[in-house]
Formats: sequence, structure tokens, C-alpha cells
Amino acid sequence: MWLLLPILLYSIVFLYVRHIYSHWRRKGIPSEPATLSWDFLCQAYRREFRHVEAICEAYHEGRDRLHGIYCFFRPVLLVRNVELARHVLQQANGHFMETKWDYVKGYRRFNLLEKLAPMFGTKRLQPMLLNTQDVANQMIHHLQQRELQGVVELDVQQLLRIYAVNIMGNLVYGLDVNNFEQQDHILNSFAENTAQHSNLQCFTLRGVPQKSTLTYRLLDIIQRNVEQREERGIIRKDMLQLLVKFRNGNDLGSDKWQVEHAIEEDKLMSIKRLAQVAEDLLQSALDSLASTITLTLYEIAQQPLIVEKLQAEIKELQSDGDGQLQLLEQLEGMKYMEMCVKETLRKYPPVPLIERTCRKSYTLPATKFTVGEGKTLMIPLLAIQRDEKYFSEPLKYKPLRFLHDKLKQSTQCPSAFVGFGIGGAQCVAQNFAKMVIKVALIKLLQHYDIEWDENAAAVVEVSHLPAPLITSPDGLRLKLKAREILAHSHYRKNSI
Ligand code: HEM
Repeated sequence: MWLLLPILLYSIVFLYVRHIYSHWRRKGIPSEPATLSWDFLCQAYRREFRHVEAICEAYHEGRDRLHGIYCFFRPVLLVRNVELARHVLQQANGHFMETKWDYVKGYRRFNLLEKLAPMFGTKRLQPMLLNTQDVANQMIHHLQQRELQGVVELDVQQLLRIYAVNIMGNLVYGLDVNNFEQQDHILNSFAENTAQHSNLQCFTLRGVPQKSTLTYRLLDIIQRNVEQREERGIIRKDMLQLLVKFRNGNDLGSDKWQVEHAIEEDKLMSIKRLAQVAEDLLQSALDSLASTITLTLYEIAQQPLIVEKLQAEIKELQSDGDGQLQLLEQLEGMKYMEMCVKETLRKYPPVPLIERTCRKSYTLPATKFTVGEGKTLMIPLLAIQRDEKYFSEPLKYKPLRFLHDKLKQSTQCPSAFVGFGIGGAQCVAQNFAKMVIKVALIKLLQHYDIEWDENAAAVVEVSHLPAPLITSPDGLRLKLKAREILAHSHYRKNSI
């Protein structure tokens, strides 16, 4: 009897697992044989399993537009075709709605992200260009203080992470914080790489909320700041101001920055919810901003001709007496830099996978397959953008491919560039992200030449966790050499 019990238990578990792992075969969807190997379990336990890379492999092994995979015990449908993915995310919005941004007021349900989208419009971003440049100037000042005979050698990945934290601290938390100097500030905890911790969770326990231990301290900052702006009428042209305006039911599309105060009952969002939105923006922004700037530098450092071309484009920019750019359009006009940023996002998309849970069953166009309620659909942006079918020599860094891509687009199919998302699921903050990335690159290349050590290339390893991260112990160690013309720059003179 006592022997029978474990055998029975083992058989039940075995049959259950086998049932799960035959899901795609039963549905008639091509899939690879699922295994739960000891090797995989050990890697998962040590947090060394790279789920993004594994999903890309599955993509490349597949042959059809749809391919069934298993993320641990979860059957997931991989969409291997850009047009189909675009169609699903564009047309079938009601079926694959994300509930994270659901917001209920009275009897009505809104998508909060749609309501907040005007925050990232050109009109709103224009004044934030100055704050962004101030933060970039702090970074240059920090580098200049570390120079030894005009050269500074450091881990650029860490530098840019602090830059991203400072940007979000400044614009979302309304703080004039400089984490390059002030290392004990609460926001400095975000300068450490958090990506590694979320790796396994993305693969297995998607949907389980991750509560940051810093949440309550961040709530305090927001609370203080919101009260100051509402009660004392303080105006700071940043994202927090726009969130406070939204909370008070003000129009985000208008030119005004001043908050028109609403009575407590009419407020659209509690301070706690506002703090949650701020933290979501912070989390969405940090890895993506820091990794895109870092990996652009990593790639261009190996191709001095690209650096020269960028520096020539930067030289053409008109700035005021303090070396500050005045107009956002100037950034938009930088065609070559735009192509470089796009090429980085193609090769290293910060969001390498888009996942959607089906809320209402949906039959995929031109197929007989219906995705059932609760089932997961995945669009592997990284694998698509590294597919030879869409981009020739996908592992080569070639910004000019987007010049040709543009010409091709008008006659052939739309681009397979999906770095900022696909269909109706594009990043709401893409203009903001491009502004922050370009300003950092402009300031760095204006002040420094990059020296690339061939031996360093051999040790640089990029992993997707899920955002791309240089996992080598030294990060991205680069030598930055002050440029002749700009050695002892304007900023230094002004800041003394
Ligand atoms: C290079 C930088 C960035 C890239 C490539 C990028 C890419 C993306 C992509 C592909 C999505 C769609 C995800 C999905 O459909 O599931 C997305 C969503 C989003 N992005 Fe970005 N993003 C970037 C920067 C930013 C920044 C700086 C912010 C905030 C200020 C931001 C805020 C958001 C938000 C709030 C969403 C919606 C997320 C959600 O639904 O959970 N992104 N982004």
C-alpha cells in the first residue's frame, strides 16, 4: 500500500505533464518536442537560463507562420510572421487587451496609457529638452572630473545607467538629483542592474506582481511633490506636472502647465495610483534607455567611420551660447543618428518579446486556428529583427540599411523594424526615448573620441535578460579621449 502511493502519485504527475506537453500536437500546430531536462532545471535554479535566446532558437527552428513552444509548463504560440503579428496586434485589440493599464472611473473603463499618451507629444517634450541636456551636462562634468591627461577610462554601461536614473528622477519624480555626485540617494538603488532578477520570472511566473521594496519610499517622494504642486501652485515642466494635471482632470493636450485644482471627489487618480504609474514609467524606461545608448557606443566604437560621420552631423547643430540645443526638431533632423539608433534597436531591442494573453477567443486570419481564452501569444521582436528574411546580414551593424529600407518600403512591404513595438502596441514614449538617447550621444561624442581596445571586444558578452545587458565583469570598458576643440568645454567654464 505504502509503495503504491508514490507510484500512483508519480504516474499522475507524469500523465499530467505529458498532457500539457502534447498541447500543440493535439491542436495541430507545428511545435518542437518539449523536454524538462535536468540541465534546464539546474540552469533555471542558478538563474542562468536565457529564455529570450531559447525562444529565438525556437523561432529559427520553426518553418510556419505559427510555432508552438512551452515556457516551462505554459504552452505559448509563437507568431513567426511580421504581417500576421501586425494584423493581430492592430485588428484584434479587444481580444488581446492588456489589463495592467485598465483604469475605472465611475462606471466607465479607460485605458490609462491612452489617456496619458499626450504627455509624450512634441509640444510637451520641448521644455523637457532643457532638463535632459542639464542631466547630460552633469554626466560630462562628472567625466571631466575623472580625466587624467584628457583621457577617462570607465564602464560606460554603469555611467549610462546613472544617466537614465537621473533623467527619470528629474522628469518623473521632479527631483534635481545628481546621482553622479550624490551616491546615497534612494534612486541610486536603480542604478544597479535589476534585469537579472526578472529573467526567470518572465519565463515562468508571468503575471505575479513584483513589489519593489522601494515602492513606499518612492510614494513618499511623489506625495510630497504632488502636494507642493497642488497646494502651492509650483510649476515644473516635467512629466510629474502632467500626471498631476491628469489627476485634476485637466486637458493634457493644451499648452498650459499650470494645474487647475479639482476638489478631492473629482480627482481622477489617487496619489498612490499616481506613484504606481510613475514607478511603471521608471521601470519601463531604465533598461531600455541605458542599454540603447550603451550598445550604440559599443557598436560604433568598433567602426570609427560611423563615429566620424556622427561627429560631423553633431557639428552642424546650431546651439545657443551655452552649447544648449533649443528645438526638438533639431534632434529629429539628425538623419544619420536616427539610423544608428534604429540599427541598435534592431539588433538589440530592449523589449525582445511581446506577450499577450487572449481575453476573448480569436481565430487567427487566414488560418483555422483559434486562440483560446487565457492562452498566450508571443511575438519575438528580437528574432524577427535578426531574421535574414527581413534584414540581410542581420548580425552586422549597418545603420545605412535604413536608408535603403526607406526606399524599399515605398514599393514593397512595410519595414520589419519593430523595435518600438508592432501594430497598435507601439511604445507610447518613443519620442521621449529618442530625445534622451540622442542627447546623451550628442554630448558624449561632442566632448570625446572613443578609443576601442580590440582585446576588449573578445570579452564583451551581451545577454538578453530580457533587455540586452553587457554581462562581462567590467561591463563596457571604454577609453574616452577629450576632443581637442572641446577639451575644457563650455560646461566646465560655466560651472566653476
Ligand atoms: C529605446 C527605448 C524604448 C524602447 C525600444 C521601447 C519599446 C517598447 C515596446 C516594444 C513596447 C510594447 C510592449 C508591449 O506591447 O508589450 C513598449 C511599451 C511601453 N513603453 Fe517603451 N520603449 C522604450 C522606452 C520607453 C521609455 C523611456 C518609457 C517611459 C518613459 C517607456 C514606456 C513604455 C510604457 C509605459 C509602455 C507600455 C508598457 C506596458 O503595457 O506594460 N518606454 N515600449
